[in-house]
Amino acid sequence: MRVLVIGGTRFVGLELTFRLLAAGHHVTLLNRGTRVDPFGSRVSRLVADRTTHGFDDALAGRTFDAAVDFAAYTGDDARGAVRALGGKVGHYILISSGQVYLVRDGYAGRARETDYDGHLIAPPANAKDHGEFLYGIGKRDAEDVLAAAWPAGQLPSTVLRIPMVNGPRDHYRRIEGYVVRMLDGGPLLLPDGGPAPARHVYSAAVVRTIVDILGRASTFGRAYNLAQDEVPTVHELVTAIADALGATPKIVAIPRESLAAAGLEATEVSPFSGTWMSYLDPGRAKTELAFRHEPLASYLPATIAGLLAVMTEDAPPAYANRARELAIAATL
Ligand SMILES: NC(=O)c1ccc[n+]([C@@H]2O[C@H](COP(=O)([O-])OP(=O)(O)OC[C@H]3O[C@@H](n4cnc5c(N)ncnc54)[C@H](OP(=O)(O)O)[C@@H]3O)[C@@H](O)[C@H]2O)c1
Repeated sequence: MRVLVIGGTRFVGLELTFRLLAAGHHVTLLNRGTRVDPFGSRVSRLVADRTTHGFDDALAGRTFDAAVDFAAYTGDDARGAVRALGGKVGHYILISSGQVYLVRDGYAGRARETDYDGHLIAPPANAKDHGEFLYGIGKRDAEDVLAAAWPAGQLPSTVLRIPMVNGPRDHYRRIEGYVVRMLDGGPLLLPDGGPAPARHVYSAAVVRTIVDILGRASTFGRAYNLAQDEVPTVHELVTAIADALGATPKIVAIPRESLAAAGLEATEVSPFSGTWMSYLDPGRAKTELAFRHEPLASYLPATIAGLLAVMTEDAPPAYANRARELAIAATL
């Protein structure tokens, strides 16, 4: 197939591009060209900002069997996709987020696709929460634009909603945040002791599914949650990372208020401990897409091996606070 990847040079999109090439597809990447990619002459490239008319210009006169969009964050982005790709792409896949459920009023725990509809929460006053809210609202707007375009036949589309993604190329460097602390031998601060469910997704499971469903008409107009089967707590997940690494860290529970009083964000000391963490039910994807996810016991060691293979002394930014973390841990 001739596949357009909007994005494709950072994390999941990059991994997808390798997987598409391996399966024999012809890949065209469209992005702003801010990163050097590893694909050489194996891909075609279009350089454009998808939020500008340059997007339409770059795609004018081109057709594709499928497109996978990693860079749509708003209703305008999706409208641009319908405008530039409508009638020219056989199947369009939007990479959305579990955040679409977190902005739903009454959201409690495990979300199914049917939990999408309904009232939304009020915009939070706090700036950080407000940014998270806007991300969720923007993804919902993008999904809604596609849902409205699909019955009219403008752009046959599928939405994939994903929670936090783990994998060796994670640019948020979340697992690496724990690994660097385990490597220095000091204790790990875990906000409230890490009791929350941590139902994440492995990048390889996501890209395998995308390749599997390209062009599959039964997915048109449908949304799917992709997430791992296992539901460890954050504490259990951190312990599993330690096991995979061969570390035995001392885990020190700290109330979130104490961290805040010390001027530290929960995610700065424990990247999995954010409060905007979706918890998705992958049941529909398992039934309709035969979605299968590697168990933690295989994907964590693979991810950590990938990290260690390219690790340098350049630690994730929040590690700069490590001396303060250790001083706090010593008082607990
Ligand atoms: N990582 C997670 O935990 C997680 C969780 C849920 C959902 N998601 C979703 O996953 C997607 C990102 O995944 P990824 O970073 O792994 O994908 P990726 O395709 O590997 O990287 C993102 C790409 O988007 C391009 N891009 C960004 N803004 C652009 C613009 N205005 N115009 C054209 N290209 C643009 C970037 O290149 P240039 O900078 O060169 O343009 C880059 O190639 C997002 O939609 C995000 O909401 C991620």
